[in-house]
Amino acid sequence: MTARHVLNITDLSSAEIAEVLDLATCAPDALGAPLAGQGAALLFEKPSNRTRQSMEMAVFQLGGHPITTRGEEVGLDARETAEDIARILGGYHRFIAARVFDHEVLIRMAAAVDTSSVTTSATVINMLSDRSHPLQGLADALQMRREFGDLRGLRIAWVGDYNNVARSLAEIGALHNADLRFGCPEGFGPTPEELQRLSSLGAAKVLATTDPNEAVREAQAVHTDTWVSMGQEDEKAARLQTFADFQVTAAMMALADPDAIFMHCLPAYRGLEVAAEVIDGPQSRVIAQGHDRLHAARGLLAFLSGVRVGGLAL
Ligand code: CP
Ligand code: NVA
Repeated sequence: MTARHVLNITDLSSAEIAEVLDLATCAPDALGAPLAGQGAALLFEKPSNRTRQSMEMAVFQLGGHPITTRGEEVGLDARETAEDIARILGGYHRFIAARVFDHEVLIRMAAAVDTSSVTTSATVINMLSDRSHPLQGLADALQMRREFGDLRGLRIAWVGDYNNVARSLAEIGALHNADLRFGCPEGFGPTPEELQRLSSLGAAKVLATTDPNEAVREAQAVHTDTWVSMGQEDEKAARLQTFADFQVTAAMMALADPDAIFMHCLPAYRGLEVAAEVIDGPQSRVIAQGHDRLHAARGLLAFLSGVRVGGLAL
């Protein structure tokens, strides 16, 4: 049996994302307890603050029970294979969510659940891989929707590394027909094929440039992220050099729309990818964005559990 898995934003359609975001704005009590008597296994090969806390709370708010384990405790592909882990956890839990170094591991876990000799309906969810961070993308869209009402045609700029967070933001932006602008150093931006893919998904416009100021000009939402993602620590010195001119500064924000907001998934490194006066200033939405991680996670888990806004007594 093939179960539903969410490894990338594009595993959800635009209509499904709209439903998830609508559910995310419902009061938790209105959603009932669709996870009563069920669990969620949360596996972390890398550190986390927001993702672990928001997923545990979302499961709890929906009446379920989260169990978190760290990578060294589970020994993914060391103590036992990702496939065996997934097949076993699929018998205990409604959700298997994992933060992994290698996206391929998530694909293997989903395939193992689908081909297990004992059928389960467990859903595998990506809590961040080297490829994407769909839970972050949902929260980012939720925060921009709260701010602007609609993402259609919204001018979204990404400055820095076209990484896991950038890809999920770009995908959800494209599915909402947003206007996407990427300001990234040579070799660290989206490839022409990736830009074509984003256009095919529905992006109103795509622009990739090595000039961050060009990307930010008249943007309504300016996003960035760390220059050194988890797992890239060996490249830190070289990356700090490569990205030195890509800090989001007040001068850069002055080029954006006068009502532009600044967004960052956190953790942030003040004085590197963003100036303190920007992330701690009035245009910053990073704390509300971080809080939206909980609402988006709850919306997604409720949706995957079969809850629909139309069926709620609101
Ligand atoms: N934004 C995000 O995923 O944060 P954590 O790494 O703290 O979970
Ligand atoms: N791009 C960062 C995001 C952290 C939430 C990383 O992968 O480390």
